[in-house]
Amino acid sequence: MGTEVQADMNNGPVQETQTSGDIGGAPVIDLTGIEGPSRERIMREVSAACEEWGFFQVVNHGVDLAVMKRAKDASKEFFASPDEEKLKFAMKKNVHFHGYFNPDLMDKDVSKFSSTYEHLYYVFYPPLQEHKDRWPTIPEGFGPAMYEYVVESRGLVERILGLLSESLGVESHALFNGLKGPDVTQSNMNISFYNAKKEGEGEDQIALLGHTDPGAVTVVYSDEVVGLQVQKGDRWLDIEPTPNSLIVNLGDQLQIMSNGRFISGNHRVVEKSSKRRLSIINFYSPNMDAIIGPLDGLLSESNPPVYKSTPYRVYLDTFRQRARAQLLDTISSFKVLSLSDQEPSSESTIGTASTSSTIGESTSSTGMR
Ligand SMILES: [Fe+2]
Repeated sequence: MGTEVQADMNNGPVQETQTSGDIGGAPVIDLTGIEGPSRERIMREVSAACEEWGFFQVVNHGVDLAVMKRAKDASKEFFASPDEEKLKFAMKKNVHFHGYFNPDLMDKDVSKFSSTYEHLYYVFYPPLQEHKDRWPTIPEGFGPAMYEYVVESRGLVERILGLLSESLGVESHALFNGLKGPDVTQSNMNISFYNAKKEGEGEDQIALLGHTDPGAVTVVYSDEVVGLQVQKGDRWLDIEPTPNSLIVNLGDQLQIMSNGRFISGNHRVVEKSSKRRLSIINFYSPNMDAIIGPLDGLLSESNPPVYKSTPYRVYLDTFRQRARAQLLDTISSFKVLSLSDQEPSSESTIGTASTSSTIGESTSSTGMR
């Protein structure tokens, strides 16, 4: 599985990068007709991508392109604002690391896992007043524009969850119901503005170390600048954004709920373009009190649970603790141990992190891509 593969986790020059011939390193899937006669075909393609890659791009995804553009324009305008304006929203340690972070202007300890790029991190769903009060107000209308996009992209995630449930042979709301637990799922937004590759710098530099996302499904709205890479075996492949597409990857909770049939794709970010890269990321995550484990309908004597059932809150706490210690592969801590697994094993690390990066949802500001 993707999370069990360790390769090239250190920051620093990239050793080898290859691009597949398949418009970047993951399938591109056309969702036209998802509620009609094409549903079966789309379900097979999405399911295969989740089993093989944990990553895919979607086109004709049903997310309003005008809404996407408004979110992108607002994000660009925020990052183009004067530093003193942006710093009014600076991340603080005592508010769960929500806010704006810029390593050139701020104490790196604020983010704990200091990043090499500036970004914003906020909860956008559910839109509680305590969340709204923190949303940036530059440019005017930033919050509503981003919220509108969040609602649209959450709809996409929920359509994909329906497809994946059906492909698993369980009721079409099974994954969604499992994720929402006693209340609602959550969307944390990380809007990242990566640095350009420096002039004269020969090697591409890793901006964000290889990791899997701890949540359920991540939707990445990237501009045209290449930088996100997905791991396939021992290779890192570029994801080349197709115009108007969205990139989707599964997080650890979907690997757990599918009892290992789907994989949480390992990915990283490199600085390889002369342009800065904007990435608007919706981390669609379980309710903190949802008990996440393999779906009951999947289990049998011949398919026993591979993972334990755990409140998402506990999983996320473990993820954060391990990330602080620069340990990767949280999901392995939640495996049901067989006798052969109980041998002493060495921990995988994220590397020496000579330049540390943010690793994962809500570790700091966290985030990714
Ligand atoms: Fe990520």
